[in-house]
Amino acid sequence: MTFSNRLISWYLENKRNLPWRKTINPYHIWLSEVILQQTRVAQGLPYYIKFTEVFPTVFDLANASEEQVLKLWQGLGYYSRGRNLHKTAQIVAFEHKGIFPKTYNELLKLKGIGTYTAAAIASFSQKEVVPVVDGNVYRVLARYFDLETDISSTSAKKEFTSLANELIDKKQPDVFNQALMEFGALQCIPKKPNCSICVFNDSCAALQKKKVDLLPIKLKKTKVTERFFNYLVLEDENEQYVIQQRTTKDIWYNLYEFPLIESKKELNEKEVKEKLSTTSFFTNKLLSLKPYDEKSVLHILSHQRLKIRFWEIKVEGILREGISKEAVKKLPFPIVIFNFIEKNF
Ligand code: ADE
Repeated sequence: MTFSNRLISWYLENKRNLPWRKTINPYHIWLSEVILQQTRVAQGLPYYIKFTEVFPTVFDLANASEEQVLKLWQGLGYYSRGRNLHKTAQIVAFEHKGIFPKTYNELLKLKGIGTYTAAAIASFSQKEVVPVVDGNVYRVLARYFDLETDISSTSAKKEFTSLANELIDKKQPDVFNQALMEFGALQCIPKKPNCSICVFNDSCAALQKKKVDLLPIKLKKTKVTERFFNYLVLEDENEQYVIQQRTTKDIWYNLYEFPLIESKKELNEKEVKEKLSTTSFFTNKLLSLKPYDEKSVLHILSHQRLKIRFWEIKVEGILREGISKEAVKKLPFPIVIFNFIEKNF
């Protein structure tokens, strides 16, 4: 049996029942692929269901406000994906009359759609013979063929795409692509795959050479920086709070937060007070200042480790631009701040 036949028969027996596999609607396929980038299926699935319910067509998404889209995206992380999703929806809706281009090459011309997403839409909705190459695919192919190419190198994508192109089932490229990704997600998993039950255990090169744990090779380690965020939860005599929008080119762009003091290390009460005297978040007299929790919350992003502490600060009189708890809860926040608000407001 060929690689492709064996893979597909494995898939037909083992695939998960996922809603985006039952549609050829390019808008829904596109939504699912953007949601699933850097996100596991279990986490992405409820977002896919919400987005298709709230925005059943690309026009509904295009006509929503960015704030509505980000609110629905809240918790998925990588918020630029949510913003770009919205922008691409507007291009499709207003410049292409709501119709996604039909071919891989035409899809690629759309701002916001890269090779991976274009291949997914074209193969799943039109059965175009183009391979979908993601991290799962790299892993499966690197192991099966014992490829020592560094998957963080620029040449890797070309090499793996060309190999997938040779393997793809030309009659059912859609099924082949889903199958290869599913095989990487369920069987050929990154750590401790159970090769004893694998349908390829008689032909997998990495297994024969005892190299499964060594492949794929990724040389470039991501650099992680540590940052310290002190959030000032300012409360006035009317129980109103100050919320700001993040507008600098940084994480969480366009999301909301409490006034922030970023520092080079963790700050104690005295140090926060000192910093406050040099900022101009408010002019009211300070009544009290204390941390909500003993320890800071650690929030890990792909390239950053954030140590976050929330400070309860009561002030005299009325804050300029203060808003109520109810108004606060309607805004889109990074998930750590959202969780803090759910717990404390
Ligand atoms: N991850 C990315 N795309 C996927 C898909 N179509 N099915 C399952 N997991 C995925």
